[in-house]
Amino acid sequence: MKGLKVSSDTSAYEVRAELDADGRLAAPCLAAALGMIDRHGLVILTGLMSEAEADEGLGLIRQTIEDPGRDKCTFASEVDNRYLRRDFCALPASTPVMDFASRLTRRLEGVFTEYCGRTHPLLEVITLTSYLGSSHQYIHRDPPGVISLIAAVEDITEQQGGTLFVPGTHKFGGAEKRHGGQAYALMELWRRQANIRVLMHNLAKLWLMRTSDTAPLAPGELRDRVFSARWDDHQPNLLRFVLGKNSQFSLAMLGPKTLWQLFRRRKTLPGMFHAVQTAPRKGTVIIYRSDLLHAGPDNRSATPRRFFGLSFARDIIDRDEWLDGYSPHPDLRANPLSLGDVLDYRAPSGTGAARPAALAGMAEN
Ligand SMILES: [Fe+2]
Repeated sequence: MKGLKVSSDTSAYEVRAELDADGRLAAPCLAAALGMIDRHGLVILTGLMSEAEADEGLGLIRQTIEDPGRDKCTFASEVDNRYLRRDFCALPASTPVMDFASRLTRRLEGVFTEYCGRTHPLLEVITLTSYLGSSHQYIHRDPPGVISLIAAVEDITEQQGGTLFVPGTHKFGGAEKRHGGQAYALMELWRRQANIRVLMHNLAKLWLMRTSDTAPLAPGELRDRVFSARWDDHQPNLLRFVLGKNSQFSLAMLGPKTLWQLFRRRKTLPGMFHAVQTAPRKGTVIIYRSDLLHAGPDNRSATPRRFFGLSFARDIIDRDEWLDGYSPHPDLRANPLSLGDVLDYRAPSGTGAARPAALAGMAEN
């Protein structure tokens, strides 16, 4: 993106997944993963899923997306969802979905139990698909006190919009002492500077889409994405930007004091924090703290980008806050599940859906 330096080298945040005899992360691997999350706010676990398992996840995603009655997410990018630039939707708590989610969770039990008690709720099980023409999300933090997982069920290229992270920007006791005690203020200043670039990038993209053959704008789409009163914090909506109605980025965040700080620190600020864009290989799982700065980039390719995702609360969570930031399927709202429930889940015998033949050789856990 013009004006925002984004690295594609994620090697400093990667750990190769090694499993023990029980199919859980082996102790040295677990220790390395936890150390990464503490230091950087995320870990990229490569090779956590087998090919067959990733295919199984992809099958569940496809099955959900093909369902016209699917439960679309409300937490972000609603306008992209409306115009099929994205398809963020919740997965039902069906036997195959729960079996897949619980196997991943058990494999990562050491990570999740480091942050979450067994009684803490499963907030959502979702699939995140983006298509050509989607908006680049503003760089943001998710609601605090959550740990999230995204799993690559196929190879994802940078062009497809692998998630962008700003390592080391998560919040913990004393984190603000860095940068001479100004760490949080400087992170926010950096975020605003970066989001100016995101806004310009999205506007330029929409301008080009007016005459695009590959991703033409749908009737009403330009109005809804740029000039409407509709809520969507990740659109380049100038009306809501000017009126201060966008909680992620608005004109109100660019007051005289902020503009002066941006000018004064114009040479040093860009180098204080570093954005990296992931391009995970099939079978990779990324775990990140919700308070880490991140964004879902736009898909700049003709190939859909699909992720499987789930989130657990690290603390008790207010119901309104939960539903503001996460999208549990109606099944999950009706029958809430905790981390302990997911760890203990076993597919009913005889369902036939739980263990495709291709997975028969995998570690049972
Ligand atoms: Fe997010």
